[in-house]
Amino acid sequence: MSSTSSLSNLSNLSRLTNASRRGRGPAAGAQRMLTMLAGAAVATWWVMRRVRTRRISIAGQVALVTGGSRGLGFLVARDLVREGCRVAICARDPAELDRARASLIADGDARADGPPDVIALTCDVTDAGAVARLIGDVVAHFGKLDILVNNAGIIQVGSLDSLTLADFHQTMAVNFWGTVHTTLAALSELRRRRGRIVNVTSIGGRVAVPRLLPYDCAKFAAYGFSEGLRAELARDGVSVTTVVPGLMRTGSASFATFKTRGDERWFSIAARTPGLTMQARRAARQIVAALKRRDARAVLGTPAKLLRLANDLVPGLTAPALSAAHRLLPGAARGRRFWRAAAGSNAAAGSNVAKASPGRASA
Ligand SMILES: NC(=O)c1ccc[n+]([C@@H]2O[C@H](COP(=O)([O-])OP(=O)(O)OC[C@H]3O[C@@H](n4cnc5c(N)ncnc54)[C@H](OP(=O)(O)O)[C@@H]3O)[C@@H](O)[C@H]2O)c1
Repeated sequence: MSSTSSLSNLSNLSRLTNASRRGRGPAAGAQRMLTMLAGAAVATWWVMRRVRTRRISIAGQVALVTGGSRGLGFLVARDLVREGCRVAICARDPAELDRARASLIADGDARADGPPDVIALTCDVTDAGAVARLIGDVVAHFGKLDILVNNAGIIQVGSLDSLTLADFHQTMAVNFWGTVHTTLAALSELRRRRGRIVNVTSIGGRVAVPRLLPYDCAKFAAYGFSEGLRAELARDGVSVTTVVPGLMRTGSASFATFKTRGDERWFSIAARTPGLTMQARRAARQIVAALKRRDARAVLGTPAKLLRLANDLVPGLTAPALSAAHRLLPGAARGRRFWRAAAGSNAAAGSNVAKASPGRASA
């Protein structure tokens, strides 16, 4: 090829590129067409999925939601009532349970088929005997159990040095063993009904987030249990959906235990920051939709999706990134300086972050 012809090829290429950059020419047209086709395909998939989800009816089914007295569990219970389910909720605090039950009944009162059938039972899911009685009571009241939502959970926030062995045991007892207890106790009934199990784990059960070690351990264990359970129960027609939420605005910061001084500050900020967290009622809607479709997994929120992807694709990058983030938290020397400065600017701006006690689950 002569140097004149390669020069002319180069100038043609550069003309094409420039035309494409300016949004003209065949390359730009093809690019626009491809983008439009991809957009249309995604929109069609999304609409079809919504239509399919709406067509699946779970009306008349009986659901048990653990930790249904507040936060995410309450909102999932409310959506199940709206789907026409008969619902049992359980938690430890009887007064909060009563309020939740009254609220669920009031919310479903406008239904054409009369007020919903909702019961509230006190139960500590760490107690296998109490859980067996709970399942017995639910089946005795409704005559069956079709859906089990393992949602009850606690969270302890603290550096490794502030944690005791008892903290690990306590978190494992609720977040992992609680899920195992309810599942084993309900298994024969769920097999009989070809039912559905939903296990609410966490992005902390896929990527170990610093300052949450007992929580991470329990959620990793719950994630493994849930995935293995799905494989084992498929032949019985029982579906298992593993829910992996990122941070949600459930008000959980008010109920978390903070072991290291200053941790409540960053946790409260993180738990209330819109781009970082998702609305709890949106999360509940997505969980009920995934449950209806019998999906294997539901990862909730863009930050959780991105973090999971990054951890799966480039684990070599997430580990140092998490270590760097940890160095900024209170307790670490750099973190102390950072949070002192943040406190200064909050005070100057009249911020209420430091005394924040995020409200209850936003309905
Ligand atoms: N909020 C988030 O950002 C987030 C992110 C990822 C995953 N999650 C997970 O989502 C689930 C719900 O979280 P949330 O934010 O809604 O929490 P929450 O507002 O603190 O609610 C927790 C619920 O669990 C109950 N519970 C706690 N310990 C229990 C026990 N031993 N036995 C029975 N019930 C118990 C609580 O009632 P009592 O205290 O009265 O028992 C309450 O009803 C949890 O599994 C959590 O780990 C939350």
